[in-house]
Amino acid sequence: MFVSLEGIDGSGKSTQARLLAEALGPETLLIREPGGTGAAERIRELLAEPALELDPLAELLLFLAARADLTARVIRPALDAGRDVVSDRFADSSVAYQGAARGLGVGEVISLTGSATEGLWPDLTVLLRVDPEVGMDRADGDDRFESEGLELQRAVAQAYEEIAKIASDRVVVVDGEGTVEEVHERVMEAVRSR
Ligand code: TYD
Repeated sequence: MFVSLEGIDGSGKSTQARLLAEALGPETLLIREPGGTGAAERIRELLAEPALELDPLAELLLFLAARADLTARVIRPALDAGRDVVSDRFADSSVAYQGAARGLGVGEVISLTGSATEGLWPDLTVLLRVDPEVGMDRADGDDRFESEGLELQRAVAQAYEEIAKIASDRVVVVDGEGTVEEVHERVMEAVRSR
């Protein structure tokens, strides 16, 4: 099974992805996006640089390049070997951040990300819903998206809500506010119900 965790910056995805991967057992592959291969980690560093000016389409294509490498060389082989894969962010991040918040267009980004992954989408996506102000308080604010502030996070949060409606067969919304253990239990419930 391929599960992705999504949410705005500071939603607690990284912690919850790790706890979910631990709960699914030692064979589970835990990855984060962008990242997970040598090239994708280099792209991650580049994208996180707040001072770097980047055209929105170029930004999208960098995320997609990282994802294409990770999908072809890490995710697909793991799934083919029967392993569970838990990803801290995946294609929906591009749809929400670049497609909606950056204004490149949701349909366009869905189509391009589908090409980058040769049609691979998660079996289940857990969307951690937190208030953008709560997320801003939790996030450290040091990457290019966090440093753009509350307005961007609000646009991303709204985009995620729309994705959850459009893809309701794949996306489960989980309340991300509460203790780490409470949220973990909600995530496990969402996974079990699949
Ligand atoms: P993330 O790993 O969640 O940051 P951190 O671990 O520092 O909390 O993601 C890095 C940033 O990249 C985040 O602001 C969201 C953004 N992002 C996109 O805009 N598009 C994408 O396709 C992905 C995967 C991430």
